[in-house]
Amino acid sequence: MITPIRSLLGSTQLAQIRSLLDRADWVDGRSSAGAQALEVKRNRQLPADSTLAQQLGDLILAALSRHPTFISAALPLRIMPPLFNRYEAGETYGLHVDNAIRFLQSPGQAAATALRTDLSATLFLDDPDNYDGGELQIESSFGAQSIKLAAGDLILYPASSQHRVTPVTRGSRSCAVFWLQSMVRDSSQREMLFDLDQSVQSLGSELGQAHEDVMRLSGLYHNLVRQWAQT
Ligand code: NI
Repeated sequence: MITPIRSLLGSTQLAQIRSLLDRADWVDGRSSAGAQALEVKRNRQLPADSTLAQQLGDLILAALSRHPTFISAALPLRIMPPLFNRYEAGETYGLHVDNAIRFLQSPGQAAATALRTDLSATLFLDDPDNYDGGELQIESSFGAQSIKLAAGDLILYPASSQHRVTPVTRGSRSCAVFWLQSMVRDSSQREMLFDLDQSVQSLGSELGQAHEDVMRLSGLYHNLVRQWAQT
């Protein structure tokens, strides 16, 4: 399932992030690439351990924790701190796969926690009118999907997919990317839970949360989460 999460960030937050990113020290994206990515990755990024990347990452993680559609679609167990990328004219990230396991270093903990990447996420930080190209292309069983969203919108997609960023031909495309481990590993189960939850929410607004059918469906949703979630 490829799920857009709309308006994760508002215009004030976006303007603040963009002005900080414009003054940031970007480094060659190949500095953190593995052997396979090294051949296809042509972009720049903020060093993951820079204070700015950590501050902006925290801001994004806080916005995620307040966004009900994100929580419902991802059912996150652990989220990697976001990384920041920028593509300017001629830059691209060719077809690749993401690593299955990442290591999450939590403050105050000596050992890193392993995180299985179930979902990949890209948060678009630039208005699509400000650059050409730079589409996120995700291979799926229905063919390649091309994604270019409004600034502040996020796309969630299976980390198991092959994907690429097409070359930017004008302007500059900044984004934050991250991975997460979901409490529900199976993507078809996660998709059914998302559909059910969205329907319960909309029926609840129409009929009232105390309506007996809304209550029963809501109970069904939570009981399925109990069946399928691993924490
Ligand atoms: Ni990737």
